Amino acid sequence: MTAHYQVHGDIALITLDNPPVNGLGLSTRQGIAHGMEQALADAAVTAIVITGAGKAFSGGADIREFGSPLAMQEPNLNSVIQMLEKSTKPVVAAIHTVAMGGGLELALGCHYRVAAPGTSVALPEVKLGLLPGAGGTQRLPRVLGVEAALNMIVSGEAIKAEMLAMLPGQKLFDKIAASPATLADEAFAFARSVAATRPLPLVRDLPCKHPQGDAYFQFVRNMLGAVSKNFPAPLKCVDAVEAATTKKFEAGMATEREIFINLMWTPESRSLRHLFLGERAASKIPDVPSDTPLRDIQSVAIIGAGTMGGGIAMNFLNAGIPVKMLEMKQEALDRGVATMRGNYEAQVKKGKLKQAKYDERMALLTTTLSYDELSGTDMVIEAVFEEIGVKEAVFKELDRVMKPGAILASNTSTLDLNKIASFTQRPQDVVGLHFFSPANVMKLLEVVRGAQTAKDVMATVMAAAKKIRKTAVVSGVCDGFIGNRMIEQYGRQGGFLLDEGCTPEQVDKAMEKFGMAMGPFRMGDLAGNDIGWAIRKRRATERANMKYSKTADLLCEKGRFGQKTGAGWYDYKPGKRDAIPNAEVVKMIEDYRAAQGITPRKISDEEIVQRLVFALVNEGAHILEEGIANKASDIDICYIFGYGFPPYRGGPMLYADELGLFNVVQAMHRFAQNPHDDADFWKPAPLLAQLAAEGKSFN
Ligand code: NAI
Repeated sequence: MTAHYQVHGDIALITLDNPPVNGLGLSTRQGIAHGMEQALADAAVTAIVITGAGKAFSGGADIREFGSPLAMQEPNLNSVIQMLEKSTKPVVAAIHTVAMGGGLELALGCHYRVAAPGTSVALPEVKLGLLPGAGGTQRLPRVLGVEAALNMIVSGEAIKAEMLAMLPGQKLFDKIAASPATLADEAFAFARSVAATRPLPLVRDLPCKHPQGDAYFQFVRNMLGAVSKNFPAPLKCVDAVEAATTKKFEAGMATEREIFINLMWTPESRSLRHLFLGERAASKIPDVPSDTPLRDIQSVAIIGAGTMGGGIAMNFLNAGIPVKMLEMKQEALDRGVATMRGNYEAQVKKGKLKQAKYDERMALLTTTLSYDELSGTDMVIEAVFEEIGVKEAVFKELDRVMKPGAILASNTSTLDLNKIASFTQRPQDVVGLHFFSPANVMKLLEVVRGAQTAKDVMATVMAAAKKIRKTAVVSGVCDGFIGNRMIEQYGRQGGFLLDEGCTPEQVDKAMEKFGMAMGPFRMGDLAGNDIGWAIRKRRATERANMKYSKTADLLCEKGRFGQKTGAGWYDYKPGKRDAIPNAEVVKMIEDYRAAQGITPRKISDEEIVQRLVFALVNEGAHILEEGIANKASDIDICYIFGYGFPPYRGGPMLYADELGLFNVVQAMHRFAQNPHDDADFWKPAPLLAQLAAEGKSFN
């Protein structure tokens, strides 16, 4: 059992001990129940204190039990809470560090609560598309008041205990301890002071009213209307809290229960839970043990102060890690540093960054023109031009100067990492760190594992990614890695749709309605259409047999590279990002279509979405099969954090699972019949065909 029982004189102490955050898994719940039985049976015990060992009171549900029957197995959390409420001896929660979700609900079942200052308190279930399901929506309004409680439940955000304790009339905390160090003593003293108090106070017995309830709940619903469009949970939280004000406690609990179960079954909640677990799972690499000793990364060097180099540098400066940037010419360094300053200064102007913090960060940055000055750094990241010859020269220099054991990383987006590693005498130390643009903003980092990359290098860069607050996904070596290899197929379908009768605007609108942050053509304009153009030219020979719409090349021949040139698939006004459809571009597409002898047809939004998304899915299935991605959820994480895939759809692979892979395969067979599409591509990947035939899913 992962909760201990001890007796200190007349006080029993139950300590949750389920690292890392005392999640309320079955064995912890059993431990609490067992402790309660012992305390009630021991005549010498007059009161009970419940606390958490280590780094939390309790972080709530044990994520290892998510979606498993263990989560509901008795004693479930509601039963444990009832046991506390029914206790004939006072139960005092001694809360510190973190009390979240089920952890807070557990505390609300105790008769009294003493908290250490600094404790983060939250009901974050809404972030998983749920609501607190163990009485949180019914008890929290009774102790905090309706408005404060609803705010916490709908936002899911944490707030410090001492701030909550200042709310007038609050009954959440009976006492805030002087400091975390004195919490235990103060909780014990408090327990002794109430040992003889009867009747024992119960949160469920407190009144729950809002003087202008109808108007207030209507305001909240109006406010949430727009933001909660694709997320049903926030409005359901309002329903549950409203029930606390209009119904008796038990009836309110029944409402909460019913809403909770309904939310559990929504695709949005399944998607958000998939995302939550997938993000955690992404950092685990099957053959790299979690206790692999890490290399020490105290300093970082960056080669190339261009678009990517500067953004990458900012990530490390933000995390307090010194950065040395190298360029070939002083002007390039000056330009790079000026851009970084510009970025920081914009943040200072907006009030998002304090001047002192900005100064602190810039003080960690040094620049150099000489490789010899890099020898002391622990990790170097190369972000020079995307040309293999340039990479060769850089990696030979790095091999010459870097100390033994230093990690040599490349930000290449298309080149063969194994080849880059072969330019050195230490391929085991070479790894790909593929950042996304803008590198200081985008959450995704693809960590590219070369054939010889050492396991401790993988473990170290995954830990470094966490430090700079990136969500890292591991990819094997292939053209485009996970994300860009898939996006190529998505873009190709976009092109075919133009050939067959769509406008860029129609495709973008359909994809944005589906939930993509941006449709494919707006995305191309943002990233720069010339980048894809250059890649296509470079690959012309190896891709000679691959069918493409030529519209994107024609666009680039007109110099319409996207936002940076003020014109791409759309027009852009200076300094604005609004995409304005351009008649010339539409005409260009029509002319190309006519030249191909294609009669345009009306294409439904559904077909647009399916062709683009299923293109991702089929390529994703190949990627899984080849072992380029370790698991389907890694692909989903990649798409949500790097490509603007809607989180409430859980990523392309989960989306396909939700539709049913059989249906996805049927659609692919249909697409293969289209003479203007690429029938070869639509042959379902063997893994996909097999899963569909067996009625299985990716996840
Ligand atoms: P960029 O052209 O903005 O910057 C490259 C910088 O490297 C320039 O400042 C140049 O002076 C410098 N440089 C060139 N050769 C050098 C050498 N031998 N030694 C030192 N410095 C040298 O290019 P960008 O966009 O920053 O791309 C850099 C790398 O990042 C490329 O490998 C690219 O494929 C990759 N990448 C680019 C993304 C993007 O969206 N721009 C996204 C992800 C990766």
